[in-house]
Amino acid sequence: MTKVNKMLERALSIRRPPHAVEGVGAAEDDGGDEPGDVSKTRKHMSIAVRVTNYLTRTGYFWPIVVIGLVIVIVSSVIIHSRDLVCISASSSDHISRLRFFGFDALESDFGSLGVPWCRSKHGKTVEWTYKDLLRGLEEFVPIYEMRPIKNNMHGMGFDHSFGLWFITQWLKPELMIESGAFKGHSTWILRQAMPDTPIVSLSPRHPEKYLKKGPAYVDGNCTYFTGKDFVDFGSMDWGRVLRKHGITDRSRVLVFFDDHQNELKRLKQALKAGFKHLVFEDNYDTGTGDHYSLRQICDQFYIRGGGHSCFKDSDEARIRFRRRKFWEKAVDVEELCGPGEAWWGVRGEMRDDFNHSNKAISYAEHFTNSRFVESVLDVYWELPPVAGPSLTHQTRYDPARTSAPIVEDGRYRLFQRLGLSRFDTSVFNGYTQMVYLQLLHLKFPVVLIVFRGKRSVPKRYGVV
Ligand SMILES: C[S@@+](CC[C@H](N)C(=O)[O-])C[C@H]1O[C@@H](n2cnc3c(N)ncnc32)[C@H](O)[C@@H]1O
Repeated sequence: MTKVNKMLERALSIRRPPHAVEGVGAAEDDGGDEPGDVSKTRKHMSIAVRVTNYLTRTGYFWPIVVIGLVIVIVSSVIIHSRDLVCISASSSDHISRLRFFGFDALESDFGSLGVPWCRSKHGKTVEWTYKDLLRGLEEFVPIYEMRPIKNNMHGMGFDHSFGLWFITQWLKPELMIESGAFKGHSTWILRQAMPDTPIVSLSPRHPEKYLKKGPAYVDGNCTYFTGKDFVDFGSMDWGRVLRKHGITDRSRVLVFFDDHQNELKRLKQALKAGFKHLVFEDNYDTGTGDHYSLRQICDQFYIRGGGHSCFKDSDEARIRFRRRKFWEKAVDVEELCGPGEAWWGVRGEMRDDFNHSNKAISYAEHFTNSRFVESVLDVYWELPPVAGPSLTHQTRYDPARTSAPIVEDGRYRLFQRLGLSRFDTSVFNGYTQMVYLQLLHLKFPVVLIVFRGKRSVPKRYGVV
């Protein structure tokens, strides 16, 4: 053995733990009074220990440990790089916002704020699955890239455009009715979903009027009730319109509302007209928006995340206060609650027509409305946001008040592969829980309710 090797051997034997020398070495060297013990020791000397011993003996131990550590550090940086992409590309506000979805383990917030959801009468749900939505997204992204109206401020953004397209192409209606056209973006979306199906569009102003100022869309196979020919959905002679289009089965018609009218009013009108499939674009959360929405109507104490506390020291108040700082559309309890601790609708009001008209309603009336809606609902399905806020960088709606996104936070590769990273972040800012409803047509849809007291729930409820 050379001089260098001898020195190395001595140095390494100093580092060896004493009991290892005694346990393994002594038994081997001493010939073994207790062979059973020796064999046991040998049997339990793991491969890792043997490898370590070998490397220690040969002098490769520390270089290999250092190389191993470098590999672990480098791979951990690569694995987490997608998160770093989001963080480095955004403001400190965004980093704080990130803490709300997983990085700060605030799952409990979701439990407290929850997602109010209208219950359907028989618990029926939609036929499509998460996989269908994902496949739909893949198909829709290149379609959306071709949209004629690139700036659709005050109209639909990406999430709802996808939702309307997806639902329409899935249902394949024989006629599409649109109430609220603006510059024609949603008409264009309906057309992409069903290239040959007629459309009926009701809107006070014809979309062509917007052409003077920029892009707008006018459809060649659409009957427009606009300008001097405008008729409100509730006043339309649907029998005549449907006959003209050769429609005999009203359940083959899809009605899309984006007209900012009281959705309870629209639901009753659609029921009366015998329509079954409805989509509401703006399904505002409680305390927000310019019209009474399905979301608001169904926000009840027995729904998870529904019914609210106006008590300033409540958990909900604390959570809302914090979230209000990060999400523009989030409301704290001061904004949520009106006079007399009225939190339902918007501060106890049932708003209508872009909030040009509104009416204070009692809690009992609000409760009655929800029971009525649930009695005629076969399906209630809220479109999930297309992607989580760490991916879209949206800053408006609070993710604690929505269902789980189709592309969840952290799945940057999928977001990118779908082509979603190519869009300007502003297209993801307009999500307001678009909802698809399937209505039940009751034979005698009359609801009889007997109230007890000012804020109590109905004593008796029945359909006669
Ligand atoms: C938010 S915009 C619609 C946006 C459009 N769907 C889009 O995505 O591009 C609301 C539209 O509803 C129209 N509107 C107002 N009152 C209406 C009513 N009673 N019936 C139908 N449309 C109405 C407004 O003139 C406006 O064009």
